[in-house]
Amino acid sequence: MLVSNIKIKNFRNIESAEIFPDREINVIYGDNGQGKTNIIEAVWLFTGCKSFRTSKDSELVNFSAENAEIRLDFENSVRENSAALFIDKKRLAALNGVNLDSPRELIGKFYSVVFSPVHISLVKEGPLNRRKFIDTAISQIDSLYAKKLTYYNHLIHQKNALLKNAAENASLIGTFDIWDEKIAVSGAEITAARLGYIKKLSEKVCEIYAGISGKKEMIDIKYLSSVRFSEETVNGIASAYFEELKRTRPGDMYLKNTSTGPHRDDIEILINGISARKFGSQGQQRSASLALKLGEAEIIKDEKKEQPVILLDDVMSELDITRQNYILNKMKDKQVFITCCEEETVSRLNAGKVIRVENGKAVEIK
Ligand SMILES: Nc1ncnc2c1ncn2[C@@H]1O[C@H](COP(=O)(O)OP(=O)(O)OP(=O)(O)O)[C@@H](O)[C@H]1O
Ligand SMILES: [Mg+2]
Repeated sequence: MLVSNIKIKNFRNIESAEIFPDREINVIYGDNGQGKTNIIEAVWLFTGCKSFRTSKDSELVNFSAENAEIRLDFENSVRENSAALFIDKKRLAALNGVNLDSPRELIGKFYSVVFSPVHISLVKEGPLNRRKFIDTAISQIDSLYAKKLTYYNHLIHQKNALLKNAAENASLIGTFDIWDEKIAVSGAEITAARLGYIKKLSEKVCEIYAGISGKKEMIDIKYLSSVRFSEETVNGIASAYFEELKRTRPGDMYLKNTSTGPHRDDIEILINGISARKFGSQGQQRSASLALKLGEAEIIKDEKKEQPVILLDDVMSELDITRQNYILNKMKDKQVFITCCEEETVSRLNAGKVIRVENGKAVEIK
């Protein structure tokens, strides 16, 4: 994936800007509040996903304009593409001159992975963030996964409704076995897919984290399943899950909630054997979440044969010089966009382009 041109009009505080990026590193540099993250956000939107900062498209349009327009020229393994996004109250997309029914049709055309300060929650906060990360990551490479997950969530929703109504209507209890069988099989498919993904991710992340930390620290990632199973196949997990649903049924009936299954699972991240969530320093947590994102990009590259564009927003702060230098100078063979404020960081860049952003205007300075 190679972006050759970005044109932005009336997007957030950027009235008009055009950037011709470098094939590898691009540092977007400037003071706070000038529009650096806005540029990263503009590129990210071509993945077809929602913004990582807002779910309201209308917030993306410059306050004094009616609509915004962004154009992106990029090359994927198939061809050179020219994509456009028109943002009004909602987003409209076009690819190579053809209007798309939905911007989501850009998924699978333009691959990118973004890291921004909000993504530190991946390591720092509750399991929901980690489940969302892994589910989104698997969906990018396995088009059936999202459907399987929606079905599983639907089953859990139905089962919880039955648990709530069973107190007044005891005949519902007789249907629990049928529901639990379905939940066990569907949940086992989710668990097996996640286990497979974590295995691949763990390998990538270990290597990346060793690079970031200058081999001073070791990271370990484990999938924590709420169901214990001895056989890691869909059948093996499903039968263990079914038994567990039966065992926890009295408690679930009391709490009117399904207490076990992939919707309750987590991913444990250890740095030098200690929980990064509970005991990691800010720099370690930042490095770990960055490594997870870069690992995700590596898996896309392996599975889809496309190297995603890497968007790193404000990644430098809280990182020591070794870690900053790794990001600036060791990420070869991929296109990277990094935002930062400090002039000193820019001076340590060995190659690539520096784009200075001031009051919504972008100027190439190197
Ligand atoms: N819809 C909009 N219309 C006009 N301006 C906007 C809009 N949305 C955001 N802005 C402004 O864009 C400015 C730049 O935002 P951005 O987040 O890109 O800054 P930044 O350069 O990344 O700063 P920092 O270094 O603090 O992260 C902010 O001052 C914000 O008020
Ligand atoms: Mg910013």
